[in-house]
Amino acid sequence: MLDLAPRPGDLEAVETASREEITALQLTRLRDTVQRAYQQVAHYRQAFDAAGVAPDDLRSLQDVANFPFTTKADLRQNYPFGMFAVPREQVVRLHASSGTTGRPTVVGYTQADVDTWAGLVARSIRAAGGRPGDVVHVAYGYGLFTGGLGAHYGAERLGATVVPVSGGMTARQVTLLQDFGATVFMGTPSYFLAILDEMERQGVDPRSTSLTVGIFGAEPWTEDMRTEIETRADMHAVDIYGLSEVMGPGVAQECVETKDGLTIWEDHFYPEVVDPLTGAVLPEGERGELVLTSLTKQALPIIRYRTRDLTRLAPGTARTMRRMDRITGRTDDMMILRGVNVFPTQIEEQILHVPGLSPHFMCVLSRPGRMDEMTVRVEARPDAASAGQRERLAGELAARIKHRVGVTVAVDVVEPQMLERSLGKAKRILDLRSR
Ligand code: DLL
Repeated sequence: MLDLAPRPGDLEAVETASREEITALQLTRLRDTVQRAYQQVAHYRQAFDAAGVAPDDLRSLQDVANFPFTTKADLRQNYPFGMFAVPREQVVRLHASSGTTGRPTVVGYTQADVDTWAGLVARSIRAAGGRPGDVVHVAYGYGLFTGGLGAHYGAERLGATVVPVSGGMTARQVTLLQDFGATVFMGTPSYFLAILDEMERQGVDPRSTSLTVGIFGAEPWTEDMRTEIETRADMHAVDIYGLSEVMGPGVAQECVETKDGLTIWEDHFYPEVVDPLTGAVLPEGERGELVLTSLTKQALPIIRYRTRDLTRLAPGTARTMRRMDRITGRTDDMMILRGVNVFPTQIEEQILHVPGLSPHFMCVLSRPGRMDEMTVRVEARPDAASAGQRERLAGELAARIKHRVGVTVAVDVVEPQMLERSLGKAKRILDLRSR
C-alpha cells in the first residue's frame, strides 16, 4: 500500500498547536458559544436557568460539566427551527435525520458554518492521505443526509476532482471507479463491501483499481473489517466520524499514518465521555457515551449533545488533538441476552475470524418465550456455500460467539447474496420481539 503520511507543510498550523494553545482556544470559543446559545435560543435559556447555571459560570473547560445536556428529544421538541440561533434568513442549508421514529431532527447552517464544515472535511480527507488533485468518489447518499454533501464540499475544498455518485446502481459504481480512476473512496464500509462483491462478480480484481484509500464512516465497523477491506482491495481503510446534530462527517478523522482511532478536531468541538446511566463525566480513557459541544457553529450551537455513541478518549498521537476509539456501538443498539450486553460489532469481529463467512450479516432478535434470543444470519462466501459447508460454518461461528462473547446464539448461514444490501448505513438488527 502507498505511503500516504503527511509531508512537511501539509498540515494546518492548528493541527500542530500545543495542548496549551488548543485548550486556550477551546475556552475562548466555548464561552462565546454558550453566551450565544443563552442569548439567542429560548431552549438553552430555559434549560440553563432551570439548572441554575449562567454563561459567566464558565471559567474553565471543565465547568461545562455543570451545564445541562442536550438530547435528540430537545431537537424534536423544537422542530423545525426552534434551536436556531440566527434568523432563518441567514440559514443557507438545511439537513435532517430520516426520522424513522417520530419527527425528524432538522439542522441548519449559515454560510460560515458550511465553510467551516468544508474546511474540516478537507482536513479529514488530508489526514486520510488524500491530496489536491485526487479523484474522490463520493458514494455517501446525497440529500438531507449529511454524508454526501459533506464529503462533496470537503473534497472540493481540498482541491480534488469530485465524482458525486451517491449510493446505488452498484454495477455503475464499479464502472465509474475504473473509468474515472478514483484514488479516494468515501462511503459506508458496508456499501463498499457490496461494491467489492460486484467487482468480483464482473471479473474485476478489486486490487487492480487506482484506489489508495477509503474513508469509511456513518456506521460502526471493526478492526477486522479494516483488515478485510485492506486485504481485498489493496488500499488503506480509515475511519471518519460525525453526526448531523453536531455538523455531519468530519467531527473526527483517523490519520492514515497511525490508524489508531480518530483525531477529534478539537478546535471546533469539545468532547466529553460520560456514564450513559448517571451522566457523570468519566476520566480520560474510560469507556462511555460521547458528549459533544460545538465551539464555532453559528446557526445551531449545540451544548453537551448526548450522541449515544460509545467510545473512550485518548491523548493525541499523529496530532496534538485528542483521539477517540472507533465507536463500538450506539446505546440504542445494545442487545441484552440473558443479562449479557452485546453489540453488532462484537458479532462482526467473530464472523470475520471464520474463513468461509462473508461480512454480510444481521442480528435477528426474537422472544419466543420469556427471554430474548438472537439468531445471527450471515452469508457464506461463494466458495463455501454448499449445504454441508454452511452447516459446519454455523457450528463454528456459534461456538466462537459462545466462547469469545459469552452468549448463546443460533446461527443461520445463508447462501451468498441472500441478505439485502444497504446503499448507506447497514441495518444490523432486525427486531421481531414486538411482533
Ligand atoms: O452519519 C454523518 C456521517 C456521514 C459520518 C458520513 C461519517 C460519514 P447521522 O446520519 O446523523 O450522520 O448519523 C450519526 O452515525 O451518531 C453514529 O452512531 C453513526 N456514525 C457516524 N460515523 C460513524 C463511525 C452521519 N465512523 C450517527 N463509526 C452517529 C461508527 C458512526 N458510527
